[in-house]
Amino acid sequence: MHAAFLGLGALGRAIAGRLIDTGVELTVWNRTPGKAEGLTARTADSPVVAASVPDVIFLCLADSTAVHSLLHEQGLLKACEGKLIIDTTTNHYQNVLDFHRDVQAAGGRYLECPVAGSVVPASKGELTLLTGGRDDDLETARPYLERIGRKIHHFPKPGDASRMKLVNNLALGSIMAALAESLAVGEAAGLDRAVVLDVLADGGGESLVLRAKKQKLLDRDWSPHFKTATIHKDLTYLLELAAESDLTLGVGEAVRARYAAAIEKGLGEMDFAGVGEAG
Ligand SMILES: NC(=O)c1ccc[n+]([C@@H]2O[C@H](COP(=O)([O-])OP(=O)(O)OC[C@H]3O[C@@H](n4cnc5c(N)ncnc54)[C@H](OP(=O)(O)O)[C@@H]3O)[C@@H](O)[C@H]2O)c1
Repeated sequence: MHAAFLGLGALGRAIAGRLIDTGVELTVWNRTPGKAEGLTARTADSPVVAASVPDVIFLCLADSTAVHSLLHEQGLLKACEGKLIIDTTTNHYQNVLDFHRDVQAAGGRYLECPVAGSVVPASKGELTLLTGGRDDDLETARPYLERIGRKIHHFPKPGDASRMKLVNNLALGSIMAALAESLAVGEAAGLDRAVVLDVLADGGGESLVLRAKKQKLLDRDWSPHFKTATIHKDLTYLLELAAESDLTLGVGEAVRARYAAAIEKGLGEMDFAGVGEAG
C-alpha cells in the first residue's frame, strides 16, 4: 500500500506515523520543510510531486483555506485524476461541498474524513472517523482507515460528516473550557490542584476530555496536541452552522470568546487545555 500524505502538523504527523508503523509506504509533503524529520517516508518538494505516484492522497491541513490553496493554487486539483483524496482536515461545512464538486469535476474522488481524537489516539490507531461521500470511495479508503481508527461513522450525504464533526467540537471545546474554569476556581479557593483534578475525574468532570488532558492540566504542559487556534476555528465554523438555523448558542458563543481571549494574549499555538491561562 502506498499513499501520499500532505500536511504534517500535530495530527498529520501522528496519523502519518501510524500509517507507516502499520506497513503503508508514504510519500509526504509539508508546507514548512523539515516536519518529516524522523518519519520513515519519502519526502516530496510539492503536493503535486507527492501525489504523482500513489492513488490515495491524505490531506491533514489547518483549515479549509489551506485545502482550497492546495487544490486550486498549488496544482493538486490538476493532479488528482483517477485518485482518491481522503481529507482528514476539519473543514467548513460549506467549503467541503466545493471540494467534493471540484475534485469530482477534475476526474478524482473525494472522501471527507474529519476525525475525533487527537495525537495520542492517532498514534495508536484509535481515532473515531467521520467519513462523508460515496460508498465505493469509503471501501477504497477502508484498508487505510482501519489502520488509524477503531470506529467509522459514515455519512453518505456530502457535508454531513463535517457538520457532525463541528457539532462534536462544540461539546469538546465547552467541556475543556468548563474543566479549565473548575480548576481555576478550585485553586483560587485554596484547594490543591491535584486534588481538584482527582475529584473532578471521579465526579462531574469525568469525561473523555479529562481523561485525555488530566496529566497536561496537572503539569501545566501546554505543548500543542490540539491548538487553541484550532478549536477557535472549529467553533467559528460551528457558530456559522447554528446561525444558518437561526440558533443562538449562548454556551458556544461564550466558549469561543474564552478561546479568542487566549489567542489575543498570544496563546493561540498552545494546547487548548491551557485556556485557563488566559485568566
Ligand atoms: N490536533 C488534533 O488533535 C486534531 C484533532 C481532530 C481534528 N484536527 C484537525 O486536523 C487538522 C490538522 O490539525 P493539526 O492539529 O495537525 O494542526 P497544525 O498542527 O496547526 O498543522 C496544520 C497543518 O496545515 C498546514 N498548513 C496550514 N496552512 C497551510 C497552507 N495555506 N498551505 C499548506 N499547508 C498549510 C501546516 O503547515 P506548516 O507546518 O507549514 O504550518 C501544517 O502542516 C485541522 O483541520 C484540525 O482541526 C486536529
